[in-house]
Order: sequence, then C-alpha cells, then structure tokens
Amino acid sequence: MNEGMKMKGLKVSGLVVIISTMLLPMCLNAADETKQVKDIPLDPVTGMKMTGDWELVRNNCIICHSAQQFLRQKGTLVTWTEIVQWMQKDGGLWPLQPELEKKILSYLAGNYGPSDAYRRAPIPATFMPTNPYESKIRKEVEEKRKAGLIPMKKP
Ligand code: HEC
Repeated sequence: MNEGMKMKGLKVSGLVVIISTMLLPMCLNAADETKQVKDIPLDPVTGMKMTGDWELVRNNCIICHSAQQFLRQKGTLVTWTEIVQWMQKDGGLWPLQPELEKKILSYLAGNYGPSDAYRRAPIPATFMPTNPYESKIRKEVEEKRKAGLIPMKKP
C-alpha cells in the first residue's frame, strides 16, 4: 500500500464517521415521532391517530396536501368547521355530505383540540419572518381575518 492509498482510506473512513453521526439523531427523531400518544396508535403512513373515524378523515383530507397540514393544527369544533368551510370556498374542497362532515369534524376536534399540548397562542403573522411557502390564498384569508371580514362566531 502506498501513501496515496492510505490517505484515501483515511478520508473515506472519516466520511463514514461524519455521515453516521449525522444520521443517528435523525433515526432517533423518527422513532420518537412514531411513539404512541396516550395509547392511541399512530398510523405509520400519515401520522394520524388511529381511532374513531380516522380512515374517513384520511380518505377525504390527504388528497390535496399531507396530513401534516392538519396534524399540526389544534382547534375547537368551531375552528375546524371554519377551516373546512374556508377550504371549500377557496381551496377547492368539494361539498361534504352533512353526516360525513360531522364525523370528520368531530374526529378533528376530538383528537386535535386545543387541550393538552396547547402551550401558547399562535404567533401573529406580523411577528413571523416571511414564509417562503406562503400561498396567495392563505395570505388573503389572513388579511380578511384581520379586517374582520371572516366572522368568528359559531356556525
Ligand atoms: C381540494 C383540495 C383539498 C382538500 C380535499 C382538502 N384541503 Fe385542506 N387545504 C387545501 C388548500 C389549497 C389549502 C391551503 C394551502 C396553504 O395554505 O398553503 C389547505 C389548507 C389546509 C389547512 C391549513 C389551514 C391554515 O390555516 O393554515 C388545514 C388545517 C387543512 N387544509 C385541513 C384539511 C382537512 C381537515 C381536510 C379534509 C376535510 C382537507 N384539508 C382537505 C386544499 C384541500
């Protein structure tokens, strides 16, 4: 083995060490995310809580965006109703049969309500840095909310 080959070997093993130290925390994180919350198993594909009418929600709500769009949210029945109505008006969501809509909303409010993990109110958009993923429709909704054009009362 000449000097050049030794150097190459050192470089490669160094790279392996660097890559594995980078990957390790990612693996640990992934394991953390799939752990059970309050004994309700999570669907490994969507991350949704597998309880009640979760399959109905999955079938209707992950066609245009991932489940993360709503798993990150917490809301009362009123908030969830508003979100779904807004999506029907501006986001292209089709009308849902009343019975189906009721089931979807109660799953969301029941499992993703403003309860346990709720620590603080969301930060107002004005205090946030510019979001590179901001969409036109979301901006419009925020402006309308601020202007009081979207009623906050119970439907
Ligand atoms: C026809 C397409 C479509 C379907 C189906 C759909 N959505 Fe959406 N949804 C959108 C669009 C468009 C947005 C806006 C994306 C953005 O803000 O970037 C959105 C955004 C959202 C948001 C984020 C709202 C916010 O304030 O940030 C939530 C929560 C959400 N959807 C939940 C749902 C739920 C629950 C269902 C099932 C009832 C559903 N979506 C089905 C199109 C859809």
